[in-house]
Amino acid sequence: MADNTYELCNEHKGIKEHLPVIEGTQGPHAVDVSKLYRDTGVLTYDPGFMSTASCESRITYIDGEAGILEYRGYPIEQLAEKATFLEVAYLLLHGDLPSSVQLREFEQIIVYHTMLNETLKNFYDGFHHDAHPMAIMVGVVGSLSAFYHDSLDVNDPHHREVSAHRLLAKMPTIAAASYKHNISEPIVYPDNNLSYCANFLNMMFSTPCEPYEVNSTAEKAVNLLFILHADHEQNASTSTVRLAGSSLANPFACIAAGIASLWGPAHGGANEAVLNMLTDIGDVSQIDKYIAKAKDKSDKFRLMGFGHRVYKNFDPRADILREVCKEVLDKLPVDDSPLFELALRLEEIALHDEYFVKRKLYPNVDFYSGIIYRALGIPNNMFTVMFALGRTVGWVAHWMEMMSDPEQKIGRPRQIYKGSPRREYIPIENR
Ligand code: ACO
Repeated sequence: MADNTYELCNEHKGIKEHLPVIEGTQGPHAVDVSKLYRDTGVLTYDPGFMSTASCESRITYIDGEAGILEYRGYPIEQLAEKATFLEVAYLLLHGDLPSSVQLREFEQIIVYHTMLNETLKNFYDGFHHDAHPMAIMVGVVGSLSAFYHDSLDVNDPHHREVSAHRLLAKMPTIAAASYKHNISEPIVYPDNNLSYCANFLNMMFSTPCEPYEVNSTAEKAVNLLFILHADHEQNASTSTVRLAGSSLANPFACIAAGIASLWGPAHGGANEAVLNMLTDIGDVSQIDKYIAKAKDKSDKFRLMGFGHRVYKNFDPRADILREVCKEVLDKLPVDDSPLFELALRLEEIALHDEYFVKRKLYPNVDFYSGIIYRALGIPNNMFTVMFALGRTVGWVAHWMEMMSDPEQKIGRPRQIYKGSPRREYIPIENR
């Protein structure tokens, strides 16, 4: 690799190629195979993208072996401790932390985009009262693409920025309205005097009937959870947004596609599944039974909130959340300590079990987030919506990065065809 090329030899096909090597500022190098098919007629095969970098990006860096997560170079631990979510959102979108003037301007822009078009409220009535809020999110966020014709030219950087602001600002309003629809309460309008996170809690929990004061511990916890979920490089939902956007599709439709991908229990849906799992386990005495189920290959059960495609040592977000979980349970008037104790015990047992140790399976961000959401009074079916709220800015930042890349192309993977060879049509009476 000294000359910055990688020699690919395939004696069977008689291929000998010198492929360019691309170096990142941190992390593994990549072999550029983009011209391989053109030059040799051979494809690369990598289901699940185990060894494939799908793009170059300057947004987030993860070192899965060392448990490192950085947004634009800043360690997640520092951002989690010191920043506000909108400060982090600005960082992800613009590349640098804002000055106090820039942050104030940004906050103002977001505040003045939080309202929904009144007609959008009609969409909620189309959903049955017990529709899953993630289903409502996919529908309502996608339906934003029917509005805002003034700024839908995806080739115009200003239009893209306006769409980014609209998405970031309206997402909490849409999410809280999904919850209100579920519980058949009136939708609460945004309050421009509140912070991003306090405004969301107010739209979730206040009613027109009585005053509601946002609890500062709850506001702090939501701020932290949004920061921890804000971006995670090329995960399934972000890659979905990029792939959808690569056809120059409408940005709101692209984000709706990301929400759909996030919903799966192997991705963002895991936080809801963790709580359901802990409730099913119910008691420390049952842990061994569930660990055995997770290890049994004939059983589909997996220990939810465990394992990660990239983190093979620890998930730094889970470490932060374990501490915050304790603090939240101490400060808020809820009695979920037994659930937390159960989670801690499950974690301890799994971390010493050979099956989990050998496969490098550690608690991920979803393992503790659900317990915190529950302590905040957020129902299980809203957990993945909370994830989507934090992740929206990451999706948007990636979409913006991709759209401003002059090399941007439609994403179009190839396949290895394993179906029937060519055959002739047989008339139906002869089959
Ligand atoms: N419980 C039991 N066994 C597991 C678990 C688990 N949670 N996770 C992985 N394994 C096992 C697999 O069975 C496999 O075993 P094998 O080598 O004997 O076949 C091995 O560990 C590797 O697992 P893969 O599924 O191949 O790993 P992959 O990187 O594809 O999957 C994933 C990662 C999807 C996160 C997986 O660990 C999982 O399903 N975890 C539970 C769901 C979850 O918590 N998802 C949230 C992820 S974080 C996020 O999206 C924010």
